[in-house]
Amino acid sequence: MSAVASTTGICTRRELLQLAAGGGLCAGALAGLGGPAVATSAATVAPRLRDLAAAGGRFYGAATGRRQLEADPDFARCFAAECGLLVPENELKWRALRPAPDQFDFSGADWLVAFARRQGLLVRGHTLVWHDALAPWLQTVRRARDAEQLLGAHIAAVVGRYAGQMHSWDVVNEVINPEDGRADGLRASFWQARLDSAYIELAFHQAAAADPAARLVLNETQIEYDDDASARRRDHLLALLQRLLAKGVPVHALGVQSHLVGHVASDFHALADFLDEVERLGLRLIVTELDVRDWELPAEPAARDAAVAAVYADYLAMMLPRPNLDGVVTWGLSDRYTWLSEYGARADGAPVRPLPFDHACQRKLAWSAISTALQTVANKTRT
Ligand code: XIL
Repeated sequence: MSAVASTTGICTRRELLQLAAGGGLCAGALAGLGGPAVATSAATVAPRLRDLAAAGGRFYGAATGRRQLEADPDFARCFAAECGLLVPENELKWRALRPAPDQFDFSGADWLVAFARRQGLLVRGHTLVWHDALAPWLQTVRRARDAEQLLGAHIAAVVGRYAGQMHSWDVVNEVINPEDGRADGLRASFWQARLDSAYIELAFHQAAAADPAARLVLNETQIEYDDDASARRRDHLLALLQRLLAKGVPVHALGVQSHLVGHVASDFHALADFLDEVERLGLRLIVTELDVRDWELPAEPAARDAAVAAVYADYLAMMLPRPNLDGVVTWGLSDRYTWLSEYGARADGAPVRPLPFDHACQRKLAWSAISTALQTVANKTRT
């Protein structure tokens, strides 16, 4: 049974679920939290997730944007205190970087990399190749030769600019989509339509040439659960990784996005078996975009938080002890800023609560779940 503990106490999964059902109280899990109405940010109180992660040889970080860090000093303080790594949430996507075919706009990404340097944070690059957030003008590019030239030049420029400063790059993002009907399970996308599967190799080779120090990651979504659709994605993904490695393509790690769902219980056994196979291929592992959707959970915030925390606890109990895991990134830090306000909105209109900190940047049960999982790994490292 997984447990959620603060520094002073333990809250079992059963207790969390009791909380979720509206009954019981678990003082242990709440002891490390900031409390609902504290003037100073709870993130200023030790222990912090970044330190707990480091004690176990991992990192903890989050995705964020320039706009929120710049406009919201309270949030920026919380971010710098709690995170050991920053991922630009949108600033390195084509749509942000490439206003025109012959132009780059590095202003957002440069600002975030400078913020990270000042605060002593690692940075992950996200992402060089994606079917989404493309620059609108790309649609006018039709010929394979032009697409190949553009992609190569883009990666050389972007990866080259931050060479030596990136922990890792999500070189390709979400390339598997069996629903598109191809035998190899690859997604039908702008890049695939022009270059077939060759764009994947091209991207990894180009990234390796531009920054030999960065870990190069294949980042994938919807592979976490036990259903048939996830199983199909895992099968295609494993086959793709095997093909790439057999050809000597420089893939160093698998990124597991980990956008989880609060009302779906899982022991994540099927994912664990798959990750054993990935480890046997010699690949590292990163949890790249963790959050827990609460759109089908009860409205009452305490119950919702407990159910969300139980999913964090179960997932990280499986994930964090894995020997090839580099670290965990949540897709956002505080419920004040989460993509799920738009993409995972609740039918009742209540603000969503998928992240470790609440709207006021106070620690939630999800924080406690993450801290317990990190602490467990740190304790094992010490013994
Ligand atoms: C999301 C951002 O969080 C949003 O701000 C943006 O509007 C859309 O993209 N998988 C990914 C991320 O790999 O890049 C996505 O980020 C979330 C899903």
